[in-house]
Amino acid sequence: MSGDLQEQAKRHLWMHFTRMGSYAEPDHEVPVIVRGEGCYVYDEHGKRHLDGLSALYCVNIGHGRPELGEAAAAQSKELAFYTNWSYAHPRAIELATRVAALAPGNLNRVFFTSGGSEAVESAWKLAKAYHAAMGEPRRHKLIARNLAYHGTSMGALSATGLTSLRVPFEPLTPGGVHVPNTNSYRWDEDRDPLWAANAIEEAIEFEGPETVAAVILEPVQNGGGCFVPQDGYFQRVREICDRHGVLLISDEVICSWGRLGYWFGCERFDYQPDMITTAKGISSAYVPLGALIAGDHIAEPFLHGKAAFNHGFTFGGHPVACAVGLANIDIMEDERLCENVLANEGAFREMLDGLRDLPIVGDVRGAGYFQAIELVKDKDTKETFDHEEAEHLLRGFLSGELYQRGLICRTDDRGDPIVQLSPPLIAGEQQFEEIEAILRPVLSEASERMERWSSLSRA
Ligand SMILES: Cc1ncc(COP(=O)(O)O)c(C=O)c1O
Repeated sequence: MSGDLQEQAKRHLWMHFTRMGSYAEPDHEVPVIVRGEGCYVYDEHGKRHLDGLSALYCVNIGHGRPELGEAAAAQSKELAFYTNWSYAHPRAIELATRVAALAPGNLNRVFFTSGGSEAVESAWKLAKAYHAAMGEPRRHKLIARNLAYHGTSMGALSATGLTSLRVPFEPLTPGGVHVPNTNSYRWDEDRDPLWAANAIEEAIEFEGPETVAAVILEPVQNGGGCFVPQDGYFQRVREICDRHGVLLISDEVICSWGRLGYWFGCERFDYQPDMITTAKGISSAYVPLGALIAGDHIAEPFLHGKAAFNHGFTFGGHPVACAVGLANIDIMEDERLCENVLANEGAFREMLDGLRDLPIVGDVRGAGYFQAIELVKDKDTKETFDHEEAEHLLRGFLSGELYQRGLICRTDDRGDPIVQLSPPLIAGEQQFEEIEAILRPVLSEASERMERWSSLSRA
């Protein structure tokens, strides 16, 4: 059976963001994950891996919780599907009410989607529709940050600030504008800490405020490796948005549902967005679910007369997904998972900071259970690896080696090379020790290999 799965995967499955050619060699296997339990998953050979990435920042409550499957089964028996196009059903209503109660401030109106890109598309379209309804139809641009990932559908991709993902698909939806991110690792010490926030105002003024609909920012930026905001960054951005009549969208596809120790990441940094986009942890990904959560003031123009937000997806607010979302929130509340993250994030971070003695570890950054290590060629000068070196380091060694030793985490070089960790929110000391026991020797070996490789290339 195992042989069949490999053969069939190689022949028929189109894996996302995957160089499928790398599996052409018969001895290079597709990693096939067959089962999950708590913080661990098992591959087709029965080998256990610590899921240090929560299956792409998704499985917040951990793997294998029967309650979610039971909720899905019960809902399929009662009402497998009805749509939110002109109709409602109990689970969508209940989940919208629950999400609104947890979301900060006046974020009381929930528009369900099937995932994060759809939530981002919806937020951008709603920002345009809102401004048009308020008599400002020219406001259509969306400001996002360099290296940020906001999804891959054509609108969301226009917000995504990763050149390699954008350029092959141009022309994109017009109106995506990019500004510097908050990665201060290489900033001069005397740089104004709110420089990146102020750059947003410069961009708004440059574009013409009357053409700008919204700014979209993650509480902690994933792309590039867990960039945290400077103190006061979001307060300054909020002021700038208010000054120019621009909406603030908090893209919390990763940073909500406990990932940063709060229901919503904006709570951690104490700012009030006009909209939140979310997905992943809202159902712990046991089924696909996403949402756009809008402030009352944003929904208001659509609540009268013949007004409507003419936008939707067949599966937005699927009853089975909403039933699973409700069961997921029950578990998060009963097991106090936000509290678990806040209680343990210090130990998690201390373990990662402890790796700074390795010559290849340049920076450690992040918040909650969302942390990254930046790998550097030279710690003193903060020199990064060039493209070829990063390729050799990440694809030639690190990714495979960490997986072979039983740790799933993310190695990425779309910005500077990083290793990213984002374990399930139930993780604690035992998992941190296991992560260290694998990361330390593998990163040590990576340093030595890169040293040897550089001297060979110099010779
Ligand atoms: C911040 C952010 N926005 C949007 C998306 C897109 O979500 P999806 O892959 O569910 O479409 C992602 C995915 O990782 C994300 O991290």
